[in-house]
Amino acid sequence: MFNHKHLLSIDDLSKEDIETVLEHAKTFEEVNQRTIKKLPTLRGKTVCNLFLEPSTRTRGSFELAEKRLSCDSLNAGGSSSSTVKGESLVDTVKTLSSMKVDMFIVRSKYAGAPLKVAQSTDACVIDAGDGKHQHPTQALLDLYAIWKAKGSFEGLQIGIVGDIAHSRVAGSLIAALKKMGAVVYLIAPGTLLPADPKALGADRVYHNFEEILPQLDVVYMLRIQMERLEDAPFPSLREYNSLYGLTKEREHLMKEDAIICHPGPINRGVELDSYMADSSHSVILDQVFAGVCIRMALIYLMLGGGNVETSY
Ligand code: CP
Repeated sequence: MFNHKHLLSIDDLSKEDIETVLEHAKTFEEVNQRTIKKLPTLRGKTVCNLFLEPSTRTRGSFELAEKRLSCDSLNAGGSSSSTVKGESLVDTVKTLSSMKVDMFIVRSKYAGAPLKVAQSTDACVIDAGDGKHQHPTQALLDLYAIWKAKGSFEGLQIGIVGDIAHSRVAGSLIAALKKMGAVVYLIAPGTLLPADPKALGADRVYHNFEEILPQLDVVYMLRIQMERLEDAPFPSLREYNSLYGLTKEREHLMKEDAIICHPGPINRGVELDSYMADSSHSVILDQVFAGVCIRMALIYLMLGGGNVETSY
């Protein structure tokens, strides 16, 4: 049904695989709405959250997903681990693997770190965001939130706006949306696009946000990745906001039923005005909730299989 030991890139998954994950997430959504949000399904399994870069949403939702499936969670990485004493990634993974871990969830500022982990352990590995490369579980939760809001993907017009050059979210999301049949536009200044934006697989690139905004069913605003900017790609944050920000003044250009997505954390007043982030168009907190459901689905499919035990 879902024959993957690792999830290191969205390219690992077919359209059918993605549909399987979304359908399972729907089952887990129901579980997450119960008073007792816990299943016995993965008792005895151990998942190690190896987060070597800060995270609130991804880390929190993976940890909750593990707990709600009754896995044992081991949190490693960060300032309290021996990585700060200079222990290598491979030594860290081999050490933790010796404790009989079944799955690693890996977040790193280095592209390719989850692959290195997969090469150093017999356990399953999920990429929880690596450098500018991939963030496959973010793409899946985005698909889930869009599917819930719009019902299907075929022909949906989706604009991904902003810092595409530094975004691992865009790296995974564009491919995921194309697999599902959506039309994908990239909207950004040339300085925030990769050298060959067509290679990302989107349908068209726009430099003028207001030209395409009225057509969009989904307006996906990307965070300006301040920590990854090497040169100044625009004169000022104020100018960026005036040209590419989703501002209150641009609301009248949006379709009435268009939705706003953002992977978080938001730079309020830069790529997205507070008014729009908190407006009725916004599904940003639905994306956060989808994160728990999708991560439960993935851990379940990769570690468990079989029928979901939906009660204690
Ligand atoms: N979207 C996302 O990856 O957020 P965090 O960095 O908070 O996990």
